[in-house]
Amino acid sequence: MKHSLTVLGALILTALPAVAQQTADSIAPEAESSVAAGFDEVSSAALAALDAKFSGVPVAADSWMVAAANPWAVQAGARVLAEGGTAADAMVAVQAVLGLVEPQSSGLGGGAFLVWYDAGTGEVTTLDGRETAPLSVTPTLFQTSEGEPLRFFDAVVGGRSVGTPGTPRLMEEAHRRWGRTNWSGLFKDAIDLAENGFTVSPRLSALVERDADRLQRFPETAEYFFPGGVAITAGDRLANPAYADTLRQIASKGSSAFYSGAIAEDIVATVRGAPGNPGTLSTFDLSLYQAVERPAVCVPYREREVCGMGPPSSGALTVGQILGMLDRYDLSALGPESPEAWRLIGDASRLAFSDRGRYMADSDFVPVPVKGLVASDYLDERAALLEGDDALPEVAAGSPEFDHALNWAQDESIELPSTSHISIVDSDGNALSMTTTIENGFGSRLFVRGFLLNNELTDFSFRSHANGVPIANRVEPGKRPRSSMAPTIVLKDGAPSLVVGSPGGSRIIGYVVQAIVAHVDWGVDVQKAVAMPHLVNRFGTYDLEAGTAAEELGPALQELGYEVNARALTSGLHAISLGDSLLGGADPRREGIALGK
Ligand code: DON
Repeated sequence: MKHSLTVLGALILTALPAVAQQTADSIAPEAESSVAAGFDEVSSAALAALDAKFSGVPVAADSWMVAAANPWAVQAGARVLAEGGTAADAMVAVQAVLGLVEPQSSGLGGGAFLVWYDAGTGEVTTLDGRETAPLSVTPTLFQTSEGEPLRFFDAVVGGRSVGTPGTPRLMEEAHRRWGRTNWSGLFKDAIDLAENGFTVSPRLSALVERDADRLQRFPETAEYFFPGGVAITAGDRLANPAYADTLRQIASKGSSAFYSGAIAEDIVATVRGAPGNPGTLSTFDLSLYQAVERPAVCVPYREREVCGMGPPSSGALTVGQILGMLDRYDLSALGPESPEAWRLIGDASRLAFSDRGRYMADSDFVPVPVKGLVASDYLDERAALLEGDDALPEVAAGSPEFDHALNWAQDESIELPSTSHISIVDSDGNALSMTTTIENGFGSRLFVRGFLLNNELTDFSFRSHANGVPIANRVEPGKRPRSSMAPTIVLKDGAPSLVVGSPGGSRIIGYVVQAIVAHVDWGVDVQKAVAMPHLVNRFGTYDLEAGTAAEELGPALQELGYEVNARALTSGLHAISLGDSLLGGADPRREGIALGK
């Protein structure tokens, strides 16, 4: 017997060192000891937070809390919060450090979505810092001369996939609206670390090794990650003076130092000069970039409102559809060990993913039936499809109320791992949930001025049409590729009760749904909710997290008619629950922590 615990006990209590054993396409999460070893110079509070995470205990605080993917980044955010800064201020500090210490996942060269709960007004709003397609692209950007889709990595690596970065402008816009701390001071920790060197983490080192061939295609990238021809390894001290210089310019002149002038020209030259696969990004594209405020998409769930990022992300609509359908069933009575609970979750996800593939894209370019997709009567109709006993033999997109008569074909985009999630609550009671990315691990692999450029454009559908019908998420000039990022704030009685989000490509949606269901329906605390072994179903096959108790549900799910597949499911959930106190949880599959006071 692999597990002696009951499935229920094991699902909630499985020690994550078991997860740490797994090896798979996404990098093997580090064993507890090697993670701690990689961070032996962080504060005692950060080390205690790492211990708490691996012991399955949430970090508790009364005033503020920050949870993110790397202890150095979390410490930078904690310093800002401790000095009275807002969650928006702290986010700037966290993101600036993440771009240095976790460069494979997010940074200045990427994009992000931010959900903000304002304690002053009680309102939730969102900022869209998603990359845009250059004005010169055409819908055949990712097709061969015969009109066939390019192979994924042929599209990713090089300049073709690089969209206009959005993160610097989003950081500035969030700070302008909600910040209190002097902008330039927010970069101090990141600049110090970039100048004096930071300790390379086990995860960064393992990912560099795995991606050696692609990273070494470009001399600037190779020089940074393979100094003297040798891959950086865990424990190395690595300085990044070019990044320090870029940050210094943004700190003193604002994001315009990035979107115009010498940095912008270098970005463009790097994209256009990429050997073998140049892109067309221009200084004009950069000069036009704006972060956009969009209305939050909120869906009722168990007397709460689950609020998140609408188009161009599919995150909140898909999470909202899944939870909206599940709201019609009693998951708490079923519990996490019940195959019936996972049938409902799995098939609600499949139904929502069908709608996602058909209807969701950048609503500035194509009409998206946002209201119709989460309307109560439509969710009733979709939820009624779950009434049987077995897995649905097939699922199809529904017909939500649409204010335009349009027909879209199913999308065909591909997504693979990187990305990072930041959750923050400040001492004023503001809450921030931000998922930030350069798309694939190391993005386009192009490195300029100390940071990597994204490959976000490969989140578009490579095909523009299917059987003569246009695909909503096709490439168009100036358009933002559809995302799955789902930064979420759950409200109860109008106030935040949970801040959560994750990386994981389109599995983000399943990770976020699972964490919310675990916390809300099954009463699991945030640390155990983010650590819980994953079961994710998007398109029919049930993915079960390899090496965990999730695998034990396989036979029962097969009996219900699912094909099951055991694999690594490397989420990076960071969550904060708000109740009598703040409780923070950090995903043991990655290197992050929660810190609070
Ligand atoms: O925006 C998106 O949905 C993707 N570019 C996110 C990529 C991602 O999460 C990779 N995950 N580990």
